[in-house]
Amino acid sequence: MNSLLGKRILLGVSGGIAAYKSADLVRKLRERGADARVVMTRSACEFITPLTMQAVSGKPVHVELLDYKAEGAMGHIDLARWADMILVAPASANFMSRVAQGQADDLLSTLCLAASVPVIMAPAMNQQMWLNPATQRNVALLKDYQVTLLGPGVGDQACGETGPGRMLEPLELIDALAKSFLSDRMSGLKVVVTAGPTREAIDPVRYISNRSSGRMGYAVARAASEAGGHVVLVSGPTAIDPPEHVRHCPVITAAEMHNSVMAEIDDAAIFIAAAAVADYRCNQAADKKIKKDNDELELLLKKTPDILAAVANRKLPPFTVGFAAETHSLSDYAQQKLINKKLDMVAANQVGENQGFDTKDNELEVFWSGGGVRLERAPKEKLARQLIHLIANRYHEKNTAQAH
Ligand code: PMT
Repeated sequence: MNSLLGKRILLGVSGGIAAYKSADLVRKLRERGADARVVMTRSACEFITPLTMQAVSGKPVHVELLDYKAEGAMGHIDLARWADMILVAPASANFMSRVAQGQADDLLSTLCLAASVPVIMAPAMNQQMWLNPATQRNVALLKDYQVTLLGPGVGDQACGETGPGRMLEPLELIDALAKSFLSDRMSGLKVVVTAGPTREAIDPVRYISNRSSGRMGYAVARAASEAGGHVVLVSGPTAIDPPEHVRHCPVITAAEMHNSVMAEIDDAAIFIAAAAVADYRCNQAADKKIKKDNDELELLLKKTPDILAAVANRKLPPFTVGFAAETHSLSDYAQQKLINKKLDMVAANQVGENQGFDTKDNELEVFWSGGGVRLERAPKEKLARQLIHLIANRYHEKNTAQAH
C-alpha cells in the first residue's frame, strides 16, 4: 500500500547546505502521490531559491510570516490546518533551537509550534554542532514535545569533516515518512470502535434515533487500522461502507451494541466509543403499528445500558476513550465525563444545527488527566488520524508508566 498517496505534506526547509536535497525530496514526494507544499526560512533562500522549490512543487512557496498576498490565498493558519504532517528537512541547529525554545519568529517555526499534526525533523549540521551539549539539550526538548527526529546520518560532511550530522537521503526520508503514516503505533493491538446511531423501536415501523451518520466513527476505525490495529467496528445502521481491513459488526439497538461490544472487549487494548447511542428506549415496544386514534400519545422510556461506563468500570479495562456531544458548556461537560466515567481520554465535539452530526468536517477538544489539546476544524478523516495519534501516544505512556 502506498501510504503517501493523497497525504498533505508541508515541507519546511531551513538554512543549510543540505537544502539542495529538498528539491529532490519534493519531487519524490510528488512521485509517491503526496501533495507537497513548501515553507522556507529566509536563510534557506540563501542555499536554494524559492523559485526552484516552486517549480518542483508546482505550488507557491511560503517564506514570510506576515505576507499579505499569501494570507489572502492560503494564510499561515490555513497552512497549519491543511497539513497531515510537517517535515522539516534540513533542520539546522539554529532552527531546532528556536522551536525547542518555543520561538515563533518566522513562518516555519510558527507553523511547527501551531501544529496539531505530527512534526518530523531531519537534522543537518556540522558534526561538532550536533554533538554540542546545547544541541543535544534541544534534541531532548524536541523529543519531549513529541517531535520525531529522522537521522542525522553519519559520514562525510560538506565541511570536509566526518561524523554524525549528515541529512538523511531523500529516499531514506520518504521511506521513514511512509512508515510513519503506516505507523505501527497500534500494531498488533485489538481496537474496538463503536459508531453510528442506534434505533430503538416504538412499534414495528417507528423508532427513536438520532442524526449520527457514522462518519466520525468510521474514520476513527480506518485511522486505527492504518496505524496497525486489529479493528472491530461495532456500528449502528449507517449508509456508508465499512473501511477495508476492519471487522464490521452491524447492530441496530443499544442493547445489541452493548452485547456486541462486551463479546469483543476481553482481549481489547483500546476501546473508542464514537457511537451516538440512544440514551432511552421504549419500555415496551408495541408489537403492532400504533394507530393515530388519540391527539396525544405517551411513551414510557427506559434508560439504555451505558456501554462506555460498562467498559470503563471493568476490573481490567482497556484504554477507554469516550466522545462527548454537547450543545453548550462543551469543555465542562466533557471534563466531567472524563472523571465521572473513569475514562482515559474524552473527545468532545459541539453538536447542533450543521455541527458534529452528519457533517464532513468537525472539530474536537480532547482531554485526558492533566492535559488536553484542541484539534482545529478539519475533515473527519484528518481529525481521526490526529486523534488516533494522541490515543496511541497516551496508551503507550500509560503502559510504560504501569510497567515501572
Ligand atoms: O456519526 P457522525 O454523523 O459523524 O457524528 C459524529 C458524532 C457527533 C456522533 C460523534 O463525533 C460523537 O460525538 N459521538 C458520541 C455521541 C454521544 O452519544 O455523545 P454523549 O455525550 O451523549 O455520550 C457520551 C459517550 O457515552 C459517547 O462516547 C457515547 O458513545 C457513550 N454512550 C452513551 C450512551 C450509552 N447508552 N452508551 C454509550 O456508550
